[in-house]
Amino acid sequence: MTALPPSIVARALLLLTICSTVSAQFPAPRCCETYCYSQDSDRTQVKHFATKTAYEVIHGPSSSREHIVPNCRPSKFWLLSRHGTRLPGKKAISALPQTLKNLRDSILDNYDVRRTRPDVGRMCPDDLELLRNWRWDSNITTDYESFLTAQGWNDLKFLAKREQDRFYEVFNGPYVRENYLFRHTKTQRTEASFRAFADGLFGDGAYVHVKPEPEPADDTLLKPYDFCPAYDANKDRNKDANSEQSKFLRSPLFLQTLSDISTRLGFQYNLSVDQVEAMWDQCRFEQAWHIQEYSPWCSVFTKEQVNVLEYKEDLGYYYQNSYGYPKAADLACYAVSDMIRHLARPENPTVIGYFTHETEIQLFLNALGAKQDREAPRADNYYAMRNRQFRSSELTPFAANVAAVRYQCTDPREPVKVIFFLNEKALMFDWCKVGLCDWSEVQRRYQRYTEGNCAKLYCGGSGAKRVNVGEGFIMLVSVVLTVVLAAIARK
Ligand SMILES: *[C@@H]1O[C@H](CO)[C@@H](O)[C@H](O)[C@H]1NC(C)=O
Ligand SMILES: *[C@@H]1O[C@H](CO)[C@@H](O)[C@H](O)[C@H]1NC(C)=O
Repeated sequence: MTALPPSIVARALLLLTICSTVSAQFPAPRCCETYCYSQDSDRTQVKHFATKTAYEVIHGPSSSREHIVPNCRPSKFWLLSRHGTRLPGKKAISALPQTLKNLRDSILDNYDVRRTRPDVGRMCPDDLELLRNWRWDSNITTDYESFLTAQGWNDLKFLAKREQDRFYEVFNGPYVRENYLFRHTKTQRTEASFRAFADGLFGDGAYVHVKPEPEPADDTLLKPYDFCPAYDANKDRNKDANSEQSKFLRSPLFLQTLSDISTRLGFQYNLSVDQVEAMWDQCRFEQAWHIQEYSPWCSVFTKEQVNVLEYKEDLGYYYQNSYGYPKAADLACYAVSDMIRHLARPENPTVIGYFTHETEIQLFLNALGAKQDREAPRADNYYAMRNRQFRSSELTPFAANVAAVRYQCTDPREPVKVIFFLNEKALMFDWCKVGLCDWSEVQRRYQRYTEGNCAKLYCGGSGAKRVNVGEGFIMLVSVVLTVVLAAIARK
């Protein structure tokens, strides 16, 4: 060991003295169950990272046989997919390196110098070593904010390969433009996701020959939430003090979790929600970029603490994009009607692939009526909702996707059937037989969206216009003025 400068030794001794005085006055801190991430071969918590969960730990296995239906042959494949694993956004890339370095240094000091680690539930030496060796990847700069990563490319490439294997009757032969319809939103990560998917189907580099449809100006099909002021207003309401998420953040369970995380890391004060989220975000991103490796930042949470953090996010999504927001389903009107229109006829294109974002996937699942629990998740029912269906980790990991597959069957009464897959697992509806749905029933269930009335339903009929409240008010005033002036003029 190298000798420490005397000033550091003196400071450490002083700290030790202070600490032992403190621990003489207070019982030694204890927090949580003992957990060592480096020694854990299961690491089941990686399946609970909300919308930053790796696709690899969620999707259905390539060996699954749910897509094989006796006396039926797949005839059309319609896909709505989220982009694959990405880098953090600009704000995170600017702030996280310093925030995380400070936290890491403090944690190591808490353990090595201040000796404020808890007696029970402390971090294991291997995990501390992981943290000690952590560095921000200097390749990740704001120039590449939110870009698709190498793993993100593979998410989509191998999804395409698995689907091609399953539905070879649909994905047969080389690329022919009439058979394939693709579209992505105007971002690097969705465009790259489309390319990866095309490469998965047609071979490396083949994407250059595959032409996606251009994105229209107001893309109400893939980004309906961008043109609806009511959606934004509801999103803001979720930040109000009385939203379920805000109440959960103030609940004894959540505060105790913050306190436990802080105690475990040796802090004698409670870390802020922002500090805990910085560590959780880094853990989730690193785990999704390098799925075989151990992210040092995942070692700072126990499995149970991860469940609590996941629930906090689920509360946000539920009331923003799903059953907790009654207008959410109608926002997906254009996507549902597009799906029904394509599934209705056997003609080309036989493969339809759209590349979009998590919000659209959540809205769409809501419109389908998938993954609905009998009870709504609230700030006060965390334990009752432990086995909930609505779990953002399961619904919208990176590369989350809904595939609707049309089958042509020999059944004379119902020759057309549909299976809906979420992340390569058949969705179960009580109106289908183990995931296999009659076409007549599909039409009946989603009739609301298929009678050409999306313009009426979408955003409560306010249409796809970027009208903010201020402009709306001015428009209203001018309409009223015109009417009044016209009335006066007539007199
Ligand atoms: C940064 O990128 C280069 C080139 O792709 C690679 O060799 C290097 O390992 C990367 N650095 C880190 C810290 O990952
Ligand atoms: C930390 O939070 C816990 C739970 O709310 C609280 O009991 C405790 O007093 C807080 N600790 C400090 C040092 O503020």
